[in-house]
Amino acid sequence: MALGFSMVALHSRRTEGEDKIFATNNAALNAAKVVGSDRVVNASIGALLNEDGSLSVLPTVIDLLRNLPPEEYAAYAPIGGLPSFLEAAKKAVFRHHVPKGYMEAVATPGGSGAIRHAIWNYSEIGDAILTSDWYWGPYKTVAEEHGRTLETYSLFDEKDAFNLTSFKEKTVSLLEKQSSIVILLNSPAHNPTGYSLSMEEWKEVITFLRSQASNTEKRIILFSDIAYIDFSGDVDDSRAFMELFGDLPQNILTIVAFSMSKGYTLYGMRCGAMIGISSNPDVAKEFKSANQFSNRGVWSNGTRPAMTVLAKIFEDPQLLKQVEAERRTLQDMLTERADVFIQEAKKANLKICPYKAGFFITIPCKNPDLVAAALQKEYIFAVPLGKGLRFAVCSVPKIHCATVPQTIARIIQQVDADL
Ligand SMILES: Cc1ncc(COP(=O)(O)O)c(C=O)c1O
Repeated sequence: MALGFSMVALHSRRTEGEDKIFATNNAALNAAKVVGSDRVVNASIGALLNEDGSLSVLPTVIDLLRNLPPEEYAAYAPIGGLPSFLEAAKKAVFRHHVPKGYMEAVATPGGSGAIRHAIWNYSEIGDAILTSDWYWGPYKTVAEEHGRTLETYSLFDEKDAFNLTSFKEKTVSLLEKQSSIVILLNSPAHNPTGYSLSMEEWKEVITFLRSQASNTEKRIILFSDIAYIDFSGDVDDSRAFMELFGDLPQNILTIVAFSMSKGYTLYGMRCGAMIGISSNPDVAKEFKSANQFSNRGVWSNGTRPAMTVLAKIFEDPQLLKQVEAERRTLQDMLTERADVFIQEAKKANLKICPYKAGFFITIPCKNPDLVAAALQKEYIFAVPLGKGLRFAVCSVPKIHCATVPQTIARIIQQVDADL
């Protein structure tokens, strides 16, 4: 849409693009008003819903939150986060796989806040940030909001494995142009594909980054986005790769983004942390001070009640056990839906991206917008992406996950044939 009279500063003038996730969700809600919610498959929502469509919550987490004393809601948290929360966040992130090195943590409003600070504090204005071609849309929004661009490598090779060649090529080419590179790598349970790098793939990534770091003029920032880790299988196995973040050259900084949104069902509390790991104590110290300064300069302090809840969970093994048991029930529900979707997709000859775990399954297709529009006529609401459709198994009851692949396969064929 062309802009008419405008009051915003030049850097904030953008063509108005509708957020496709919200637009798809609105269309689904409108359809439900007309034909009834039981006939509508709303696969746009990126939150885990129960089979009856209500939001899944971890009762222990909500009870802890409800029973906090009033001062815990009313008081500020320290700018960098409550110390007890920062300790708990490190435990929640690494469990038995703590990398060797100097480590500092800073509280942020969810993983989103960590993405913002990493981009702002570790790349130069005008730099390109690197991620894969399938990516979570806000990566681009945050990069552009801060005067950066987003560049991508192909996530998958012809065998549907991590495309190391493409990853290497893009990293090398950006490092030729820039003194530093921020790499946003979302694994395990990647949004939108559900892919998780294997341990072998992680080792190859780290070996390659080590080789690039031999040029000591360059700075490499590996941003490990683990937003969905608590829904990616065994608590400890899923974290084994993080030991690879230890003992790296001083010009590689790893930042792990912790989020309470999914793993603790506290999406709305906006609580998370960024944890920096370096072999150089000065880099770790600088990480703390730069990101704490950014907290003060952007949103001040974070959400104290959520921080206290995490601290309490990790101070009491019984509470942690309870949370994990409740989460396992949710994980089982999610896995059942994904399993049935994948099974039916196979039967329908519907190609999907290699899914290992997580909230979304992605269907590559040539005309995502047309396919999404045609699916809406059948009351199926999936989000069109650049190269396919994102289907949120997290928000769709199992019964629909079993029938939808057939319909999607048919609609894709129809749309392709009509063009
Ligand atoms: C890939 C990815 N990273 C990070 C986030 C951050 O979420 P939050 O800011 O709520 O922690 C999300 C949320 O949807 C996500 O999908």
